[in-house]
Amino acid sequence: MTDLRSRLSEAVRAAFAAEGLPEDLARVVPSDRPDLADFQSNGALAAAKQAKANPRELAGRLATHLQGRPEIASVDIAGPGFINIRVTDAVLADRAQEVAAGPMVGASLVDAPRRVVIDYGGPNVAKPMHVGHLRSSIIGESLKRLFRFRGDTVWGDAHFGDWGFQMGLLIAALEDEGRATEFQGTGPFPTDSPVSLEDLERLYPAAAARAKEDTAFRDRARKTTAELQAGNPGYRALWKHMHDVSMAALQRDFGALGVTFDLWKGEADADPLIPGMVKTLETKGLLVDDQGARVVHVAREGETKSKKLPDGTVVTVPSPDPLLVISSEGSAMYGTTDLATIVDRRNEQDFDLVLYVVDQRQADHFEQVFRAAVLAGYAEPGQLEHLGFGTMNGPDGKPFKTRAGGVLKLADLIEMTREKARARLHEAGLGEDLSSEEFEDIAAKVAVAALKFADLSNWRGTSYIFDLDRFTSFEGKTGPYLLYQAVRIKSLLRRAAGENVTTGAIAIVEPAERELALVLDAFQQAAEEAYDRRGPNALAEHAYRLAQAFSKFYAACPILAPSHETTRGSRLALAEAVLKQLEVALDLLGIDTPERM
Ligand code: ARG
Repeated sequence: MTDLRSRLSEAVRAAFAAEGLPEDLARVVPSDRPDLADFQSNGALAAAKQAKANPRELAGRLATHLQGRPEIASVDIAGPGFINIRVTDAVLADRAQEVAAGPMVGASLVDAPRRVVIDYGGPNVAKPMHVGHLRSSIIGESLKRLFRFRGDTVWGDAHFGDWGFQMGLLIAALEDEGRATEFQGTGPFPTDSPVSLEDLERLYPAAAARAKEDTAFRDRARKTTAELQAGNPGYRALWKHMHDVSMAALQRDFGALGVTFDLWKGEADADPLIPGMVKTLETKGLLVDDQGARVVHVAREGETKSKKLPDGTVVTVPSPDPLLVISSEGSAMYGTTDLATIVDRRNEQDFDLVLYVVDQRQADHFEQVFRAAVLAGYAEPGQLEHLGFGTMNGPDGKPFKTRAGGVLKLADLIEMTREKARARLHEAGLGEDLSSEEFEDIAAKVAVAALKFADLSNWRGTSYIFDLDRFTSFEGKTGPYLLYQAVRIKSLLRRAAGENVTTGAIAIVEPAERELALVLDAFQQAAEEAYDRRGPNALAEHAYRLAQAFSKFYAACPILAPSHETTRGSRLALAEAVLKQLEVALDLLGIDTPERM
């Protein structure tokens, strides 16, 4: 069984075919006038234009093909030639039953499952995560769950930034503080870390700032980076300590967000593959010298852009820029490890698709890497996708900063949101009879729901303004509102169990029941759209619509009150179906529902 919209599309397509009309015009959409119809098809208008026919007449002919189909209760022609369709109560009841019964709660599996790697999170070792990593983590986690739900084999990979210039900077800074003295020669080296997380968080910004002014320091850090990558044993040992210290902190932050990975790999894991990759690039004649560095040209014939040289002259150069593979110091760069990681993923996961959930501002970087990968034969065109996203902004419309003007650490953001969630719970009189432990657990869930839903309810490409007051409200289109609705249904189901009310066959009678069943049916389309566009916002929208339709139904159709056992059983079953689908939808957004509040 598939969703009603797909089934009706099929029927309308057959009608178009029977009339010799182009089938791609036979689209069916949910009706924008629920008082008149459940679904509509507007294709007769365009078809009539093409065929130079009267649209109403044509719509009438199409309608005769639809009449008498088992799922259709009525077909009407409205306005200039819209085909309005109402489905039967029985077919709606069957669909709701299906939602209630199956693990897919109304959605479908993909026809051809694929092997998919999702690269998200992308934190950097030795740098605390900030809000920029928040969006990637939230969107990536949701896509991972959605792709898996629809039947793909999925690996989420954090792809830590642990092999670049920042490592050289840190080692140089540690040397200057005299903390690297035990890490000279060939070892053995101390097994206890010479640095704590606090050290790293203090050292990194200082070293990065210093490198901007102090060219001698910068050059030393570059050399250190190259030596680390070349295998200097003491540097590698220091690297490992910094890596592990950061990793522990990162895992804690990700944990607090309910974000998990199947692979905790980093740029450094691609390092062993670089020599072989360089050989391949050489053999294929792709690696060319460029002022001491080695690059891969990725622009195609005729792809150029204008570039202003330091002396002011404007020249035409190929575009995109070439991919820098080996720097003049002999270091691997950001693009080098990204390209080698594709080799790794080809070997290990044998992917059909890799999705990179990374800030839109890195679009050019990925264009270079993807083109180089295809040229080198590591991936086929279309197998690598950059899913860019906009920024989370402050009230001034610029990327979010702390009051002091710095980047906000993710851990602080999470704590700030939890604090607000506690206040919101108190304000709403929720959780008062719970133990403090349970209250904390719920506050944490409300906080995560607030952050994730606020993010995912926007199309990922859109930037949005961070508004904690609005995000944490129990009213409006928010995560906490949805949790509240889910919890309300859970408590209703508990009450029903206490009163020995049991679910029965679903019957669709009241308008509010119809409306609710139609929303349940629409989950399949929402999941498909979110999957196809790699945009969880379609799921967020659906969850909200479902909660609203339930509210309306609950107000109009008492569940435990009716004296008729069949009515009670049916309504209870509907409520159960809603809860199941709502919980699945929220879970696909990465949001966990508490049992009570
Ligand atoms: N570490 C990078 C950053 O903080 C993001 C990594 C994204 N993934 C990738 N394969 N390049 O900007």
